[in-house]
Amino acid sequence: MIILGIESSCDETAAAVIRTDDKKHIELLSNVIATSLTLHAKTGGIIPEVAAREQVKFIIPVIEEAMKVLQNPKQEIDAIAVTVGPGLIGSLLVGVETARTFAYVWQKPLIPVNHLFGHIYANFIGENEIEFPAIALIVSGGHTDLVLMSSHREIKWLGGTRDDAAGEAFDKTGRLLNLDYPAGPQIEQLAKAVKKDIYHFPRPLVGSADFDFSFSGLKTAVLRETQKDEKMNDERIANICYSLQEAVFDILIKKTFRAANKFGVKSILLGGGVTANQTLRKKFESAISTHESSIKLFVPDKKLCTDNAAMIAAAAVFNNEKTDWKKISANPELYFD
Ligand code: KG4
Ligand code: ZN
Repeated sequence: MIILGIESSCDETAAAVIRTDDKKHIELLSNVIATSLTLHAKTGGIIPEVAAREQVKFIIPVIEEAMKVLQNPKQEIDAIAVTVGPGLIGSLLVGVETARTFAYVWQKPLIPVNHLFGHIYANFIGENEIEFPAIALIVSGGHTDLVLMSSHREIKWLGGTRDDAAGEAFDKTGRLLNLDYPAGPQIEQLAKAVKKDIYHFPRPLVGSADFDFSFSGLKTAVLRETQKDEKMNDERIANICYSLQEAVFDILIKKTFRAANKFGVKSILLGGGVTANQTLRKKFESAISTHESSIKLFVPDKKLCTDNAAMIAAAAVFNNEKTDWKKISANPELYFD
Protein backbone atom coordinates (compact mmCIF):
# COMPACT_ATOMS: atom_id res chain seq x y z
CA MET A 1 0.00 0.00 0.00
CA ILE A 2 1.28 3.46 -0.88
CA ILE A 3 0.19 6.51 1.14
CA LEU A 4 0.71 10.17 0.33
CA GLY A 5 0.98 12.22 3.55
CA ILE A 6 0.28 15.95 3.75
CA GLU A 7 1.14 18.19 6.73
CA SER A 8 0.53 21.93 7.01
CA SER A 9 -0.42 22.60 10.64
CA CYS A 10 2.02 25.41 11.35
CA ASP A 11 4.92 26.92 9.40
CA GLU A 12 6.13 23.77 7.63
CA THR A 13 4.54 22.63 4.38
CA ALA A 14 5.31 18.94 4.01
CA ALA A 15 4.47 15.98 1.80
CA ALA A 16 5.79 12.43 1.93
CA VAL A 17 5.25 9.09 0.25
CA ILE A 18 5.51 5.85 2.23
CA ARG A 19 5.09 2.19 1.30
CA THR A 20 3.79 -0.33 3.78
CA ASP A 21 3.48 -4.12 3.63
CA ASP A 22 1.15 -6.68 5.27
CA LYS A 23 3.20 -6.53 8.47
CA LYS A 24 2.85 -2.75 8.52
CA HIS A 25 6.54 -2.24 8.03
CA ILE A 26 6.90 1.33 6.80
CA GLU A 27 9.38 2.32 4.12
CA LEU A 28 9.96 6.02 3.56
CA LEU A 29 10.07 6.78 -0.17
CA SER A 30 10.16 10.57 -0.05
CA ASN A 31 9.96 13.31 2.55
CA VAL A 32 9.78 16.92 1.36
CA ILE A 33 9.54 19.92 3.68
CA ALA A 34 9.37 23.63 2.91
CA THR A 35 9.34 26.10 5.75
CA SER A 36 8.57 29.77 6.19
CA LEU A 37 10.81 29.83 9.27
CA THR A 38 13.23 32.45 7.94
CA LEU A 39 10.31 34.89 7.68
CA HIS A 40 9.30 34.15 11.28
CA ALA A 41 12.89 34.35 12.55
CA LYS A 42 12.80 38.06 11.74
CA THR A 43 9.66 38.64 13.82
CA GLY A 44 10.71 36.36 16.70
CA GLY A 45 7.65 34.15 16.39
CA ILE A 46 5.08 32.79 13.97
CA ILE A 47 2.56 35.19 12.47
CA PRO A 48 -0.38 32.92 11.53
CA GLU A 49 -1.42 34.97 8.51
CA VAL A 50 2.11 34.91 7.08
CA ALA A 51 2.42 31.18 7.73
CA ALA A 52 -0.88 30.47 5.93
CA ARG A 53 0.07 32.54 2.89
CA GLU A 54 3.36 30.68 2.61
CA GLN A 55 1.51 27.36 2.89
CA VAL A 56 -0.55 28.33 -0.16
CA LYS A 57 2.63 29.06 -2.12
CA PHE A 58 4.42 25.86 -1.16
CA ILE A 59 1.76 23.18 -1.04
CA ILE A 60 1.53 22.09 -4.70
CA PRO A 61 5.29 22.24 -5.46
CA VAL A 62 6.01 20.26 -2.28
CA ILE A 63 3.44 17.55 -3.09
CA GLU A 64 4.66 17.42 -6.68
CA GLU A 65 8.25 16.97 -5.48
CA ALA A 66 7.28 14.22 -3.01
CA MET A 67 5.41 12.29 -5.72
CA LYS A 68 8.42 12.27 -8.07
CA VAL A 69 9.45 8.92 -6.59
CA LEU A 70 6.39 7.39 -8.21
CA GLN A 71 6.05 6.69 -11.93
CA ASN A 72 2.32 7.16 -12.00
CA PRO A 73 1.12 8.79 -8.74
CA LYS A 74 -2.54 8.77 -9.69
CA GLN A 75 -2.48 5.00 -10.13
CA GLU A 76 0.05 4.04 -7.45
CA ILE A 77 -1.24 6.04 -4.48
CA ASP A 78 -3.78 4.01 -2.47
CA ALA A 79 -4.75 6.64 0.10
CA ILE A 80 -4.05 10.22 1.16
CA ALA A 81 -3.38 11.07 4.82
CA VAL A 82 -3.68 14.66 6.02
CA THR A 83 -3.21 16.51 9.29
CA VAL A 84 -6.59 17.86 10.40
CA GLY A 85 -5.41 19.39 13.72
CA PRO A 86 -4.29 20.71 16.10
CA GLY A 87 -2.61 23.75 14.61
CA LEU A 88 -3.20 27.16 13.08
CA ILE A 89 -6.54 27.23 11.27
CA GLY A 90 -5.28 29.10 8.19
CA SER A 91 -2.32 26.75 7.78
CA LEU A 92 -4.35 23.60 8.42
CA LEU A 93 -6.98 24.57 5.87
CA VAL A 94 -4.40 24.69 3.07
CA GLY A 95 -3.36 21.06 3.60
CA VAL A 96 -6.87 19.81 4.28
CA GLU A 97 -8.44 21.47 1.25
CA THR A 98 -5.59 20.33 -1.01
CA ALA A 99 -5.95 16.75 0.25
CA ARG A 100 -9.71 16.88 -0.25
CA THR A 101 -9.22 18.09 -3.80
CA PHE A 102 -6.77 15.29 -4.63
CA ALA A 103 -9.10 12.73 -3.05
CA TYR A 104 -12.05 14.01 -5.05
CA VAL A 105 -10.29 14.31 -8.38
CA TRP A 106 -8.38 11.04 -8.09
CA GLN A 107 -11.16 9.20 -6.25
CA LYS A 108 -8.86 8.14 -3.39
CA PRO A 109 -9.72 7.43 0.24
CA LEU A 110 -8.74 10.19 2.65
CA ILE A 111 -7.43 9.51 6.18
CA PRO A 112 -7.64 12.32 8.76
CA VAL A 113 -4.65 12.38 11.15
CA ASN A 114 -4.12 14.08 14.50
CA HIS A 115 -0.76 15.90 14.32
CA LEU A 116 0.13 14.77 17.86
CA PHE A 117 -0.40 11.12 16.91
CA GLY A 118 1.88 11.84 13.97
CA HIS A 119 4.74 12.77 16.32
CA ILE A 120 4.28 9.41 18.10
CA TYR A 121 4.10 7.43 14.86
CA ALA A 122 7.34 8.93 13.53
CA ASN A 123 8.84 6.17 15.67
CA PHE A 124 7.21 3.46 13.55
CA ILE A 125 8.93 4.47 10.31
CA GLY A 126 11.37 1.67 9.44
CA GLU A 127 10.80 0.14 12.88
CA ASN A 128 8.93 -3.07 13.68
CA GLU A 129 10.06 -3.86 17.21
CA ILE A 130 7.94 -1.50 19.30
CA GLU A 131 6.13 -3.42 22.02
CA PHE A 132 3.16 -2.27 24.10
CA PRO A 133 2.42 -0.96 26.60
CA ALA A 134 4.42 2.12 25.75
CA ILE A 135 4.77 5.63 27.12
CA ALA A 136 5.03 8.37 24.51
CA LEU A 137 6.46 11.78 25.35
CA ILE A 138 5.64 14.49 22.84
CA VAL A 139 7.65 17.67 23.24
CA SER A 140 7.26 20.36 20.66
CA GLY A 141 6.77 24.11 20.34
CA GLY A 142 3.08 23.85 21.16
CA HIS A 143 2.82 20.66 23.21
CA THR A 144 4.27 18.67 26.07
CA ASP A 145 2.24 15.51 26.61
CA LEU A 146 2.65 12.12 28.21
CA VAL A 147 0.55 9.38 26.68
CA LEU A 148 0.02 5.72 27.54
CA MET A 149 -0.32 3.44 24.52
CA SER A 150 -1.72 0.03 25.43
CA SER A 151 -2.28 -0.76 21.75
CA HIS A 152 -2.78 1.20 18.55
CA ARG A 153 -6.43 1.56 19.51
CA GLU A 154 -5.99 2.39 23.19
CA ILE A 155 -4.15 5.66 23.58
CA LYS A 156 -4.67 7.46 26.88
CA TRP A 157 -3.49 10.97 27.68
CA LEU A 158 -1.83 11.01 31.10
CA GLY A 159 -0.88 14.65 31.46
CA GLY A 160 0.54 17.68 29.77
CA THR A 161 1.74 21.19 30.31
CA ARG A 162 -0.36 23.56 32.37
CA ASP A 163 1.21 26.61 30.73
CA ASP A 164 4.12 26.83 28.26
CA ALA A 165 5.27 23.84 26.22
CA ALA A 166 8.90 22.75 26.58
CA GLY A 167 9.80 24.10 23.12
CA GLU A 168 8.06 27.35 23.99
CA ALA A 169 10.29 27.64 27.08
CA PHE A 170 13.30 27.39 24.75
CA ASP A 171 11.87 29.89 22.29
CA LYS A 172 10.81 32.45 24.93
CA THR A 173 14.17 32.19 26.67
CA GLY A 174 15.82 32.59 23.27
CA ARG A 175 14.00 35.87 22.81
CA LEU A 176 15.33 37.11 26.17
CA LEU A 177 18.85 36.14 25.08
CA ASN A 178 18.47 37.69 21.61
CA LEU A 179 18.70 34.33 19.82
CA ASP A 180 16.95 33.57 16.54
CA TYR A 181 13.52 31.95 16.49
CA PRO A 182 13.09 29.01 17.03
CA ALA A 183 15.81 29.04 19.66
CA GLY A 184 15.99 25.31 20.51
CA PRO A 185 18.77 24.35 18.07
CA GLN A 186 20.93 27.38 18.99
CA ILE A 187 20.45 26.83 22.73
CA GLU A 188 21.62 23.23 22.19
CA GLN A 189 24.76 24.43 20.39
CA LEU A 190 25.60 27.17 22.92
CA ALA A 191 25.13 24.79 25.86
CA LYS A 192 27.65 22.31 24.44
CA ALA A 193 30.67 24.25 25.69
CA VAL A 194 29.37 24.33 29.27
CA LYS A 195 29.97 21.67 31.93
CA LYS A 196 28.32 23.08 35.05
CA ASP A 197 24.71 23.87 35.98
CA ILE A 198 25.49 27.25 37.52
CA TYR A 199 22.00 28.71 37.78
CA HIS A 200 20.08 25.57 38.72
CA PHE A 201 16.74 26.95 37.54
CA PRO A 202 13.53 25.76 39.25
CA ARG A 203 12.00 22.41 38.28
CA PRO A 204 8.26 22.97 38.81
CA LEU A 205 6.04 19.91 39.40
CA VAL A 206 9.02 17.58 39.10
CA GLY A 207 8.02 15.75 42.30
CA SER A 208 4.24 15.89 41.85
CA ALA A 209 2.37 12.61 41.61
CA ASP A 210 0.54 13.61 38.42
CA PHE A 211 1.92 13.72 34.88
CA ASP A 212 1.57 17.45 34.37
CA PHE A 213 4.28 19.89 33.45
CA SER A 214 4.83 23.60 33.97
CA PHE A 215 7.56 25.50 32.16
CA SER A 216 6.42 29.14 32.29
CA GLY A 217 8.42 29.82 35.49
CA LEU A 218 11.63 29.14 33.60
CA LYS A 219 11.41 32.18 31.38
CA THR A 220 10.78 34.29 34.51
CA ALA A 221 13.88 32.79 36.16
CA VAL A 222 15.91 33.53 33.03
CA LEU A 223 14.47 37.05 32.83
CA ARG A 224 15.58 37.67 36.42
CA GLU A 225 19.11 36.57 35.49
CA THR A 226 19.22 38.86 32.47
CA GLN A 227 18.08 41.80 34.60
CA LYS A 228 20.91 41.43 37.10
CA ASP A 229 23.68 43.95 37.17
CA GLU A 230 26.06 41.57 35.46
CA LYS A 231 27.19 41.88 31.85
CA MET A 232 25.43 39.55 29.39
CA ASN A 233 28.51 38.21 27.64
CA ASP A 234 28.76 35.01 25.57
CA GLU A 235 29.83 32.98 28.57
CA ARG A 236 26.83 34.01 30.64
CA ILE A 237 24.46 33.30 27.74
CA ALA A 238 25.97 29.83 27.27
CA ASN A 239 25.68 29.12 30.99
CA ILE A 240 22.01 30.13 30.96
CA CYS A 241 21.39 27.88 27.93
CA TYR A 242 23.02 24.96 29.72
CA SER A 243 21.08 25.48 32.96
CA LEU A 244 17.84 25.87 31.03
CA GLN A 245 18.41 22.56 29.23
CA GLU A 246 19.29 20.83 32.50
CA ALA A 247 16.06 22.02 34.15
CA VAL A 248 13.76 21.16 31.21
CA PHE A 249 15.37 17.78 30.53
CA ASP A 250 15.46 16.82 34.20
CA ILE A 251 11.69 17.36 34.41
CA LEU A 252 10.95 15.56 31.13
CA ILE A 253 13.02 12.51 32.05
CA LYS A 254 11.80 12.18 35.64
CA LYS A 255 8.13 12.47 34.64
CA THR A 256 8.49 10.04 31.75
CA PHE A 257 10.15 7.42 33.94
CA ARG A 258 7.54 7.92 36.67
CA ALA A 259 4.89 7.06 34.07
CA ALA A 260 6.95 4.19 32.66
CA ASN A 261 7.37 2.66 36.12
CA LYS A 262 3.74 3.13 37.12
CA PHE A 263 2.41 1.41 34.00
CA GLY A 264 5.19 -1.17 33.67
CA VAL A 265 5.81 -0.32 30.04
CA LYS A 266 8.05 -2.11 27.57
CA SER A 267 8.82 0.90 25.41
CA ILE A 268 9.35 4.64 25.66
CA LEU A 269 8.71 6.64 22.49
CA LEU A 270 9.90 10.22 22.04
CA GLY A 271 8.63 12.71 19.48
CA GLY A 272 8.35 16.40 18.63
CA GLY A 273 10.86 19.10 17.76
CA VAL A 274 12.58 19.21 21.16
CA THR A 275 13.50 15.51 20.88
CA ALA A 276 15.81 16.46 17.99
CA ASN A 277 18.09 17.70 20.78
CA GLN A 278 21.13 15.43 21.00
CA THR A 279 21.71 16.15 24.69
CA LEU A 280 18.15 15.12 25.56
CA ARG A 281 18.49 11.94 23.49
CA LYS A 282 21.74 11.04 25.26
CA LYS A 283 20.24 11.73 28.68
CA PHE A 284 17.30 9.43 27.89
CA GLU A 285 19.68 6.72 26.62
CA SER A 286 21.74 6.93 29.76
CA ALA A 287 18.63 6.83 32.02
CA ILE A 288 17.37 3.76 30.16
CA SER A 289 20.72 1.97 30.40
CA THR A 290 20.71 2.25 34.21
CA HIS A 291 17.02 1.43 34.63
CA GLU A 292 16.32 -1.86 36.41
CA SER A 293 13.76 -3.22 33.92
CA SER A 294 14.43 -3.69 30.24
CA ILE A 295 12.52 -0.83 28.69
CA LYS A 296 13.43 -0.01 25.09
CA LEU A 297 13.85 3.58 23.96
CA PHE A 298 12.70 4.72 20.52
CA VAL A 299 13.55 8.11 19.06
CA PRO A 300 12.80 9.09 15.45
CA ASP A 301 15.51 10.22 13.07
CA LYS A 302 16.32 13.86 13.76
CA LYS A 303 14.56 15.06 10.62
CA LEU A 304 11.43 13.14 11.64
CA CYS A 305 11.27 14.79 15.10
CA THR A 306 10.29 18.21 13.79
CA ASP A 307 7.14 18.60 11.71
CA ASN A 308 6.98 16.43 8.59
CA ALA A 309 4.44 14.52 6.52
CA ALA A 310 6.07 11.08 6.75
CA MET A 311 4.86 10.83 10.36
CA ILE A 312 1.34 11.73 9.23
CA ALA A 313 1.35 8.97 6.61
CA ALA A 314 2.80 6.56 9.22
CA ALA A 315 0.01 7.35 11.71
CA ALA A 316 -2.50 6.61 8.96
CA VAL A 317 -1.11 3.08 8.55
CA PHE A 318 -2.25 2.19 12.08
CA ASN A 319 -5.38 4.31 12.43
CA ASN A 320 -6.69 4.25 8.93
CA GLU A 321 -10.24 5.37 9.14
CA LYS A 322 -10.82 6.06 5.49
CA THR A 323 -13.25 8.92 5.34
CA ASP A 324 -15.23 10.46 2.53
CA TRP A 325 -13.55 13.73 1.47
CA LYS A 326 -16.83 15.54 2.11
CA LYS A 327 -16.63 14.67 5.82
CA ILE A 328 -13.11 15.92 6.50
CA SER A 329 -12.53 19.34 8.01
CA ALA A 330 -9.72 21.14 9.83
CA ASN A 331 -9.95 21.26 13.63
CA PRO A 332 -7.39 23.60 15.23
CA GLU A 333 -8.44 22.51 18.74
CA LEU A 334 -8.08 18.76 18.17
CA TYR A 335 -6.39 17.02 21.09
CA PHE A 336 -6.14 13.53 22.57
CA ASP A 337 -9.69 12.24 23.12
O1 KG4 B 1 7.50 19.62 16.50
P1 KG4 B 1 7.92 20.96 16.03
O2 KG4 B 1 8.74 21.05 14.77
O3 KG4 B 1 6.70 21.90 15.81
C1 KG4 B 1 5.58 21.89 16.64
O4 KG4 B 1 4.68 21.03 16.43
O5 KG4 B 1 5.58 22.75 17.57
O6 KG4 B 1 8.72 21.64 17.26
C2 KG4 B 1 9.28 22.92 17.21
C3 KG4 B 1 9.93 23.23 18.56
C4 KG4 B 1 10.43 24.65 18.71
O7 KG4 B 1 10.00 25.16 19.95
C5 KG4 B 1 11.96 24.51 18.68
O8 KG4 B 1 12.64 25.49 19.43
C6 KG4 B 1 12.13 23.12 19.27
O9 KG4 B 1 11.06 22.37 18.75
N1 KG4 B 1 13.40 22.51 18.84
C7 KG4 B 1 14.40 22.20 19.70
C8 KG4 B 1 15.46 21.68 18.91
N2 KG4 B 1 15.06 21.68 17.60
C9 KG4 B 1 13.79 22.18 17.59
N3 KG4 B 1 14.49 22.33 21.03
C10 KG4 B 1 15.65 21.95 21.61
N4 KG4 B 1 16.71 21.46 20.93
C11 KG4 B 1 16.66 21.31 19.58
N5 KG4 B 1 17.71 20.83 18.92
ZN1 ZN C 1 4.63 19.23 15.67
